[in-house]
Amino acid sequence: MRTDTGQVINLADYRPTDFVLERVDLTFELDPTATKVDARLIFHRRKGADPKAPLVLDGDELALSGLLFDQTEMKASQYTATPDSLTIRNLPKSKPFELTITTIINPEANTKLMGLYRTNGVYCTQCEAEGFRRITYFPDRPDVLAPYTITIIGDKAANPVMLSNGNFLGGAGYDEGRAFAAWFDPHPKPSYLFALVAGDLGVVEDTFVTMSEREVTLKIYVEHGKEARAAYAMDALKRSMKWDEERFGREYDLDIFMIVAVSDFNMGAMENKGLNVFNDKYVLADPETATDQDYANIEAIIAHEYFHNWTGNRITCRDWFQLCLKEGLTVYRDHEFSADMRSRPVKRIAEVRHLKSEQFPEDGGPLAHPVRPTTYREINNFYTTTVYEKGSEVTRMIATLLGKDLFKKGMDLYFDRHDGQAVTIEDFVKSFEDVSGRDLTQFSLWYHQAGTPLVTAAGAYDAAAKSFTLALEQMVPATPGQTDKKPMHIPLSIALFAEDGTPLEPSSVDGAEYGDNVLHLTERSQKATFKGIGSRPIVSINRSFSAPINLHFDQSPADLALLARHETDHFARWQALTDLALPTLLAAARDARDGKPVVASKDFVEALLAAAADETLEPAFRAQALALPSESDIARELGGNNDPDAIHAGRSAVLQQVADAGKSVFASLYDSMTTPGDFSPDARSAGRRALRNSALTYLSYAENVPDRAKAAFDAANNMTDLMQALTILAHRFPDSSEAAAALSTFHDRFAGNALVIDKWFSVQATIPGTKALERVLKLMDNPQFKRSNPNRVRALVGTFAFGNPTGFGRADGEGYRFLAREILDIDTRNPQLAARILTSMRSWRSLEPARAEHARKALTAIAKAPALSTDVRDIVERTLK
Ligand code: PHE
Ligand code: ZN
Repeated sequence: MRTDTGQVINLADYRPTDFVLERVDLTFELDPTATKVDARLIFHRRKGADPKAPLVLDGDELALSGLLFDQTEMKASQYTATPDSLTIRNLPKSKPFELTITTIINPEANTKLMGLYRTNGVYCTQCEAEGFRRITYFPDRPDVLAPYTITIIGDKAANPVMLSNGNFLGGAGYDEGRAFAAWFDPHPKPSYLFALVAGDLGVVEDTFVTMSEREVTLKIYVEHGKEARAAYAMDALKRSMKWDEERFGREYDLDIFMIVAVSDFNMGAMENKGLNVFNDKYVLADPETATDQDYANIEAIIAHEYFHNWTGNRITCRDWFQLCLKEGLTVYRDHEFSADMRSRPVKRIAEVRHLKSEQFPEDGGPLAHPVRPTTYREINNFYTTTVYEKGSEVTRMIATLLGKDLFKKGMDLYFDRHDGQAVTIEDFVKSFEDVSGRDLTQFSLWYHQAGTPLVTAAGAYDAAAKSFTLALEQMVPATPGQTDKKPMHIPLSIALFAEDGTPLEPSSVDGAEYGDNVLHLTERSQKATFKGIGSRPIVSINRSFSAPINLHFDQSPADLALLARHETDHFARWQALTDLALPTLLAAARDARDGKPVVASKDFVEALLAAAADETLEPAFRAQALALPSESDIARELGGNNDPDAIHAGRSAVLQQVADAGKSVFASLYDSMTTPGDFSPDARSAGRRALRNSALTYLSYAENVPDRAKAAFDAANNMTDLMQALTILAHRFPDSSEAAAALSTFHDRFAGNALVIDKWFSVQATIPGTKALERVLKLMDNPQFKRSNPNRVRALVGTFAFGNPTGFGRADGEGYRFLAREILDIDTRNPQLAARILTSMRSWRSLEPARAEHARKALTAIAKAPALSTDVRDIVERTLK
């Protein structure tokens, strides 16, 4: 393991390279344990650069086997090679020169899954962010762009498939069972977008005709026998290509687009030019093995990686501080795509749920950082929900500030102006300033200030003046390294309603910029007066979640119930229901802690059941309404001194009361929300399944016996229904014979299908209560659990730590001690994976004192370990600070 050097990288230190890379020509001679890489690189010294400056190339665990300068061997005195770098001196002042660097690497031994590695007998690369330097010495930074030629040579029988970026040049067999394939990528790209895949894979093929009528070959490579499970991914790809043409005017730019599904992968997927590599979890699906959520994820991630071709690849990041330039923007694009493919308000609700449950805790804890950070020790630790999801929200706010047409113009200008370049967030923002004439300086604080702004609102109606005044205040909390915050530009989408639910339009608004129903909050404290309001208005603020903020606005239950029924924005209806639910859930947690009886408020239960039964609302929306805020949402809202057991007990008691009150509603939904005929993963059918399964969950409380869930388990003809029934049996009736039988049936039916067995691991890892840890420990001995595979580790250890507050957070601290041991073990193989799972401890300071002390000790034990990766060292030290 490469251990921490303590080195810190700062945005302020950015400098262009001294040498310009003109072209790259790589030859790989594949071998499982000794792959030979010849890198032929042509450079010239940049005009104006120091004529004596050496060329310093990055490496990571490399050994140099050969170095030629213009085809002749270099003298040892001219260069210094270490595992981390290759420094070459006395290079020409201006004339181009050629270096040929030879390295021999061991893909089989590469457990970090960065660089060139083997997964199930297939050679595969992962280069973002700094993996290319594990293949050869190279200026491994995103602002060094060049065209690449790739030749792959290897055993023909073992590698009938040999792929790289760009267009296929040719290939053939050699003597003695060897073969080669050559690829050329004409689009200059940084090394992090390089990819190579070789092995014996099955393929699904299709074509797409672009808007200028070029035919593009589409290929999805999977393990043999899994071809049929790639059909949905292929369909999603074609829809993504079409959508990007129609919505953003972006056409694909090579003759071929390839996707490869691999089973060992650290992240979701990777946008390598023309050759996306995917975690197979986000490619493979059929009704028997994939849930509706799996289908939705596949659609979104296929789109996300494809969209990177323009936002990330054609225009890339100058340095890794600009990561949100490609990620925030591309997430925004995939969100919009899914909204167009499915239900926009339901998609928005799911996005905001995710943002609040993942990004808000990050922004409110020790790992908080700006969307555009200014310093890091390990870039791998900055692929965060802040960079991705908050980054997307910032892009969405630009679209809100400018309006649809100007936003489109700004995007077009950005594409025109920066195609082929490596740029910054400032360049991106400038495109929107230039098309709109708007000064976005204050708005840009969204990129620079960490922390979730808190907006406090209070309304006052003046009947005589027919005016309504909204007093707004904003506060951005202190975050690590940032104590004083400036006021932000917060776009608040607002609507006013009369007591009967009809919308009220103000004749004018004073005290704040207001247009298209958006109020611009720009001061620390500001009063906006809405004129021409004939009766007391009921106000809806931050509709569609126009800004990623916390909002404190005291509204009566009656007003919230009215919004839940009459808001025209369905996201805002869901928000109103959530605002009704939270006080009940918070009080329930406190009452459960104090041993008092829990009482759910009547307004809340009635509004919830009314929404559930409202046939004018789409089923998917009703299912979202019925999914109460999670235990971690409640913990976040409570803010401190949290007792996971009390939160769980309180929330369960509220669920029980909703279930009892709505028993007949749920029974009739369960009977009516069927999806007859062949299974279809479309959004409408998925919504019906979601609502029916939600009804089933409530019925399991109301009836309090496993019978109905068991019948549902036996009758299920798709994975969504099967998993929901299994989850109810395991979570609600963990000690029943029905649960044990269902778990064993499920296991036996899907043994050998790793992705489905992951679901079986996860459902057991999240059974509430103190016994969860013993179950997890036992499951780790199951032969299907492989410590080297990130999906297995995430499904069991990750899901336990992130998704089981009572089991992981049990009062004796055993859960935290278990995690500490696991992190140290995982870190010896795969530091990125270890660091990511360790972020499950990010909210430890909000625990009640005894648990917090156990958590602190477990973290300290990690910090004191003799050898830690940079990845884990960085996370553990920031978490403890
Ligand atoms: N760039 C990838 C994406 O978001 C994520 C990723 C990062 C994958 C680092 C691998 C390594 O699309
Ligand atoms: Zn991405």
